Amino acid sequence: MNTQELFEQVDFVENPLFENIIDDLTTSQYSIVDTFFEQDEVLQLREALLQRQSDSAFKKAAIGNRVNEEIDRSIRGDYIFWLRDDSLKPDETLFFERINAFVSYLNRTCFMGIMHKEFHYAIYPKGTFYKRHIDTFQNDDRRKLSIVFYLNDTDWTTENGGQLVLYPDGKPEISVVPIPGRMVIFESQILEHEVLEVKQGERLSITGWLKTRGDFMG
Ligand code: OGA
Ligand code: MN
Repeated sequence: MNTQELFEQVDFVENPLFENIIDDLTTSQYSIVDTFFEQDEVLQLREALLQRQSDSAFKKAAIGNRVNEEIDRSIRGDYIFWLRDDSLKPDETLFFERINAFVSYLNRTCFMGIMHKEFHYAIYPKGTFYKRHIDTFQNDDRRKLSIVFYLNDTDWTTENGGQLVLYPDGKPEISVVPIPGRMVIFESQILEHEVLEVKQGERLSITGWLKTRGDFMG
């Protein structure tokens, strides 16, 4: 995705869903929405993830390049596949079209200056988790908004575990059940969060970040 595409001019039409998300982010640092995609689109995206899995595209996620795999596993246990602009399947293109519309809307209404994005699929097998953290790295503060979109089986419940727990500053924690089609958007630099251990099944998602500036600034 280049800057020009993100700034493509479209006639402005107020979007109630996007407005809701913006209101939530402004008041509570996070937003949880279940209608960003239609049910059949969620199924299509789930199929696309499963296809990538059967292509053996996933790799163990790391938390940095100076730690060993054992330390990584004690912090996060998921497997990821980065979605690259130049090799997307048609269903994955659908995901980005909607995200791009959201980004254009944000830039137009909130002057957020989102210039770049990065997204990956994530699979958390049974027994894995991601310990409490925030989504920014010491030398890279470009991540502005985190987006997690769940592609789990339709019968996913609390029994399956894998809840996303959000820790808003000074407020009680929020436990989010990752039901399919649910999207959680939050401030990357502020909101601490964790993924609880998966107890049953495989936890599937698309996770990504909307970032400011195109270049690495250090
Ligand atoms: C992450 C993360 C949350 C989730 O990948 O950084 O916190 O619910 N994911 O998968
Ligand atoms: Mn995170």
